[in-house]
Amino acid sequence: MKRKERAIITVDGYSSCGKSTFAKAIARELNYIYIDSGAMYRAVTLFCLRKGYVSGGVADAAKIISSLPEIKITFRMNDKTRFNETLLNGESVEREIRDRAVSDNVSAVSTIAEVRAKMVELQREMGTLGGIVMDGRDIGTIVFPDAPLKIFMTATPSVRAHRRYLELQEKGMPADIEAVEKNINDRDRIDSSREISPLCRADDAVVLDNSEMTPEEQMVWFRKLFKERMNEN
Ligand code: DC
Repeated sequence: MKRKERAIITVDGYSSCGKSTFAKAIARELNYIYIDSGAMYRAVTLFCLRKGYVSGGVADAAKIISSLPEIKITFRMNDKTRFNETLLNGESVEREIRDRAVSDNVSAVSTIAEVRAKMVELQREMGTLGGIVMDGRDIGTIVFPDAPLKIFMTATPSVRAHRRYLELQEKGMPADIEAVEKNINDRDRIDSSREISPLCRADDAVVLDNSEMTPEEQMVWFRKLFKERMNEN
């Protein structure tokens, strides 16, 4: 790689379009670190749910803002999976942050400017040495606007709902396809229309619509893009 050794690669896009599967595969191939920024917003949401500061998709912004100093989000390498797991004040919450209650409330918590400012600061710290793949909603637009390689992922809503439904079933988490589809549509709407850092494609991001692509086809697509972009000049 001539252009920049151990770069930052950003992967943004809609809910449940396979961002984390794709971003993890890229990270594995390049020997980069994968960072799941959504897990950070989910961990903050779990904290707020436990305290009763958010419920039914309605967040008490004042209470959440005043408790931000009490919330510490870190990652720890899981030696078995070789991926980071999310810690909330030292407790591993990797599984709990995928629960439906968190999914139903995370977009409301993520619209709060102070929550975003804290997460963006942490995310930038994690990127200081490069060699990372970070996925989320605003990574290529706000967190790392100068990243040399940005990908914006999308897939049709029904494909996304189906994938998410299968994923929950595989994890032994009961799911109802209609509820899953509603959650995805609701999150897309809130994430794309919020005032601060809405989900949108960075001007220089390359779009990957993976509705009809297998994981291996996505990797073939990525390898070609990486070669073109990172070996240029
Ligand atoms: O990637 P995910 O579905 O686990 O993310 C959960 C939520 O977190 C998503 O609906 C919106 C929020 N989020 C965000 O606002 N900004 C990010 N960079 C990542 C996630």
